[in-house]
Amino acid sequence: MQEDDFKVTPWEVSGKIDYDKLIRQFGTQKISEEILSEFSRISKGNMHVMLRRNIFFSHRDLDLILNDYKGGKDFFLYTGRAPSLGMHIGHLIPFLFTKWLQDIFDVNVYIEITDDEKFMRNQEYTLKQTSEWAHQNILDIIAVGFNPDKTFIFKDTEYIRNMYPLVTSIAKKLNFSQVKATFGLDATSNIGILFYPAIQIVPTMFERKRCLIPAAIDQDPYWRLQRDLAESLDYYKAAEIHSKFLPPLASSGGKMSSSIPESAVYLSDPPKTVEKKIMKYAFSGGQATTELQRKLGADLKVDVPYQWLYYIFEEDDDEIRRIGNEYSSGKLLTGEVKKILAQKVNQLLEKHREKRERSEEMYSTFLYDGKLARIMWDKIHS
Ligand code: TYM
Repeated sequence: MQEDDFKVTPWEVSGKIDYDKLIRQFGTQKISEEILSEFSRISKGNMHVMLRRNIFFSHRDLDLILNDYKGGKDFFLYTGRAPSLGMHIGHLIPFLFTKWLQDIFDVNVYIEITDDEKFMRNQEYTLKQTSEWAHQNILDIIAVGFNPDKTFIFKDTEYIRNMYPLVTSIAKKLNFSQVKATFGLDATSNIGILFYPAIQIVPTMFERKRCLIPAAIDQDPYWRLQRDLAESLDYYKAAEIHSKFLPPLASSGGKMSSSIPESAVYLSDPPKTVEKKIMKYAFSGGQATTELQRKLGADLKVDVPYQWLYYIFEEDDDEIRRIGNEYSSGKLLTGEVKKILAQKVNQLLEKHREKRERSEEMYSTFLYDGKLARIMWDKIHS
């Protein structure tokens, strides 16, 4: 895709990503100080840790969303998930952040579960599998704690009837070479995947209001297509807020991937497994021996345990500063930082699993009979 030592597409993320360069390549914008202070004002000083730490780092039209909001104009949030056997910690990032946005702005959230995308992209998967994974992943998403009156979760293969008229209008505006170039498809790609972008774009038009999409930056190519055609259909260009990728455990490049099990921590991993994975596989920026570590300290930029703490697991700013200082100066050893991380990850997972036990009873509220879900099932998008 680009002549770099990294690659970011919706289906492949690899290499050591230079995020400033990515902003220039994609043509997005850095989240400015003004935007941050606006968030700080709206959240009454309780800014989300992933905004404070520049994990959500880039955007399109976020300034317009905030300006509109200031003027009393509403917007809605949209995010999604291509279901797989298990969700890992990286997948939680956009959902945790979307929930925070819903809490502070009190707006509707639409969550698309793309069982169709997953099925069509992998010859070996059956629809039965992707549908079962969808169910399991939805339970994890519900556990994040969205407002049941203002959140609609839908599976593409089920909700397609209501979306299809608008999907056809979108598909009619997308030509083969645009989609091929945007996603790097070729003549061997199946035609389902060629058509699929119209289905990922359609929820940006579920309301005739601005739509804000929180996701990692890999999804941006879809929104570029959306932004080219939205106004011709009398809808707003989608606004976006992009996160970086939680790095895989075993290396500081790319993104955590479900296809390399030792590189990911799953939401279902029991405490012992979490501990073992972190102690054994987490890529360390520390020195090879204790003596050298005491003398030279760790390189925080490549150290995965530190990165994970920084991304989400240590929310206390004083504490992360202390760990960073002591680790980079050699006072802390890799094993000690890994222990801190394992404990924090297990704390988060334990809370998550407690909440997930109650997800099943909320399932039909979010998908079929909650306040927003009912409105959505009565509506044909055209
Ligand atoms: P999927 O299932 O690959 O990923 C779900 C969401 O998780 C983000 N993500 C990550 N974020 C941080 N660190 C990581 N290591 C990491 N890995 C994945 C993704 O950016 C995504 O936000 N086609 C989509 C499904 C979808 C969607 C959407 C996503 C449909 N509509 C609207 C976002 C917004 C997909 O395959 O996501």
